[in-house]
Amino acid sequence: MSPFQPLQLPNGSVIPNRLAKAAMEENLANQDQTPSDRLLRLYQAWAEGGAGLLLTGNVMVDPAAMTGPGGVMLDDSQSLQRFRQWAEAGRAKGAQFWMQINHPGRQMQANLGQPTVAPSAVALDMGGLSKLFPQPKALDEGEIAALIQRFARTAALAEQAGFSGVQIHAAHGYLLSQFLSPLTNRRQDRWGGSLENRARLLLEVVKAVREVVSPGFSVAVKLNSADFQRGGFEPADARQVVLWLNELQVDLVELSGGSYEAPAMQGDARDGRTLAREAYFLEFAREIAAIARMPVMVTGGIRRLPVVEHVLASGVAMAGIATALAVDPNLPRRWQAGETKALAELPPIRWKRKAFAALAYMALVKLQMRRLAKGSKPKAKASPLGALLLEQWCTLRRVKQYKRMMANRLD
Ligand SMILES: Cc1cc2nc3c(=O)[nH]c(=O)nc-3n(C[C@H](O)[C@H](O)[C@H](O)COP(=O)(O)O)c2cc1C
Repeated sequence: MSPFQPLQLPNGSVIPNRLAKAAMEENLANQDQTPSDRLLRLYQAWAEGGAGLLLTGNVMVDPAAMTGPGGVMLDDSQSLQRFRQWAEAGRAKGAQFWMQINHPGRQMQANLGQPTVAPSAVALDMGGLSKLFPQPKALDEGEIAALIQRFARTAALAEQAGFSGVQIHAAHGYLLSQFLSPLTNRRQDRWGGSLENRARLLLEVVKAVREVVSPGFSVAVKLNSADFQRGGFEPADARQVVLWLNELQVDLVELSGGSYEAPAMQGDARDGRTLAREAYFLEFAREIAAIARMPVMVTGGIRRLPVVEHVLASGVAMAGIATALAVDPNLPRRWQAGETKALAELPPIRWKRKAFAALAYMALVKLQMRRLAKGSKPKAKASPLGALLLEQWCTLRRVKQYKRMMANRLD
């Protein structure tokens, strides 16, 4: 099947082609957590690049719960004006533009100075980097109910602002994914224990979101195939969760994997299993596509047209591309124009300390996004160490701004 064939979703809306720009946190918000001019410029570049579906980087549902400083947040305290402009920029060339909505749970930096919550009081184990993340407090019933409403409210506001859909982030070890995994969810109430209980929060969030948006608004879920840790969330669990999602008017499921502790989404799992270099969640996605009522998208390692074609030939409906579109936002347009050999990638970072290599990789991708956001060309060959140091410096500055903003909010 051609990557340039449209896809009709269960809600009747159409994605113009099978290429999606997957979510990448940009850390380019204004100090009041709204989208900045630079963020709008970045999405103009992606809109012009020709992907049929653009996903925002994760947008927070709570100002006090951030995956990083400089992130966008949307709740009732925000004016929708900047979000309207963002939605317009993303949709300008006909793509569907979905806001990814997220809550970090325990994966929140300690230096942000906010109380950290999670399904259970289980802290992150990242070896030498563990102390960067605080000990979380277990959520109580009332807090869980409030969180469900926060996801729904952000989705309703995204629709009002003109987005064509939302994607609920239940992957990569963030809050909803923490509930799914028995390693992080040790609860003994109706939110923990059996898989049915661990999946309850995700399913309740999907239902609450669906209730407050129009039928034609797309509602998607990003789910881990596994968290790649022994005793964790397994492929068989993910399969069952998709069977439950089948009943809930979900328009697309995106499959990924991993968490901060085992960053398999970057093609490397801590437990030593080697993943294929390209489209590394494809085998699992193929199995899920066979049982899913909604279209399935797979993300991870896709940067060449033949790989996209292989993904689509496997029965997977959409190919999600993150890194390669930060390196060259025009890849879809170039492929469509017949440049079938065009590819975009970053040189591999072969540092011994995997955790640092993963951070440097993220920093290098963020450097590409910052360059696009100021109208410059990406620079794939930039030094990973330089990118890492620059990102650390930017992060410290943003942390200060964030803490000042939160202190002012309290006043
Ligand atoms: C800098 C950066 C930021 C990311 N932020 C997000 C995010 O906000 N939400 C999300 O679901 N995935 C995020 N990801 C993961 C990507 O969506 C994707 O799953 C992963 O990078 C693998 O795809 P790729 O090989 O095409 O990059 C991020 C990845 C990178 C490199």
